[in-house]
Amino acid sequence: MNISLKGKKALVGGSSKGIGEAIARQLAESGASVTLMARNEERMKTIIGELNTHEGQEHQYLVVDFSNFGAFKKVITSFFEHNTIDILVNNTQGPEGGGALEKSVDDYQQAFDLLFKSVVYTTELALKHMQQSKWGRIINVASISVKEPLSYLALSNTIRAAVVTWAKSLAFDVAQDGITANSVLTGYFDTDRITQLNTKKAEKMGVSPEEVLSSMEEKVPMKRIGKPEEYGYLVAFLASDKAAYITGTNIPIDGGLLKSM
Ligand SMILES: NC(=O)c1ccc[n+]([C@@H]2O[C@H](COP(=O)([O-])OP(=O)(O)OC[C@H]3O[C@@H](n4cnc5c(N)ncnc54)[C@H](OP(=O)(O)O)[C@@H]3O)[C@@H](O)[C@H]2O)c1
Repeated sequence: MNISLKGKKALVGGSSKGIGEAIARQLAESGASVTLMARNEERMKTIIGELNTHEGQEHQYLVVDFSNFGAFKKVITSFFEHNTIDILVNNTQGPEGGGALEKSVDDYQQAFDLLFKSVVYTTELALKHMQQSKWGRIINVASISVKEPLSYLALSNTIRAAVVTWAKSLAFDVAQDGITANSVLTGYFDTDRITQLNTKKAEKMGVSPEEVLSSMEEKVPMKRIGKPEEYGYLVAFLASDKAAYITGTNIPIDGGLLKSM
């Protein structure tokens, strides 16, 4: 199977590192023109210089801060005044860790703005062109926590569930326009996010971050955490014509970690 995204334009959130960066690299590898989106401008410039660039491919970046919705809204609105997008990868920073009893209603509101509001707003803007061209791909980076809530991640467990049910509703509404909307349920992946969460968890438990990591790996049937590039392959497939009949799904990528059906 040959995956070609030639002539397609993709916007990838949180793509200066981690999962988002790996997705951006794979979409470019498959022929798409990619717009990166994150805070670290220097890092995005470096990645743009490294992305696969065949004839017709043009990459760019957008400096945004998802944690300030008002400022984000201005930047993204102005972006869509001059650009159209065929493939939207909704990926934002993960919310703070912590159990349900440690979080206030304000924390939940903040996580909602970060994980849900920015995603819905960006998608609405992207959909205008997708509906006109009768082709589009919306792919959400979500978490296995929507099926099996994770300990110490109450905010993520709660708000990500809203994102995937929204995506399911959206898939229904845009199916006849040739647009698919899918969510990827992320297991454990080797990124800075996991290192940071493990360090905090280790402090709390009085063990080393390495011990937290190895107990994490032990839980995964494949006995390892995922490589970001493995995530990129799945997203490139979902973004392609080959996945035209796949919509409204929640696809786990977790080395077999989820036990629920
Ligand atoms: N890694 C895992 O095992 C795992 C598991 C389940 C779910 N997830 C979720 O998957 C998503 C990606 O995680 P990751 O592991 O790739 O994280 P990561 O390595 O920490 O990367 C996060 C990306 O988001 C950007 N970002 C962070 N804060 C931002 C902000 N305020 N505004 C704009 N961009 C921001 C970062 O770039 P800048 O710093 O340049 O802004 C970076 O590009 C997160 O939502 C995470 O919760 C990850």
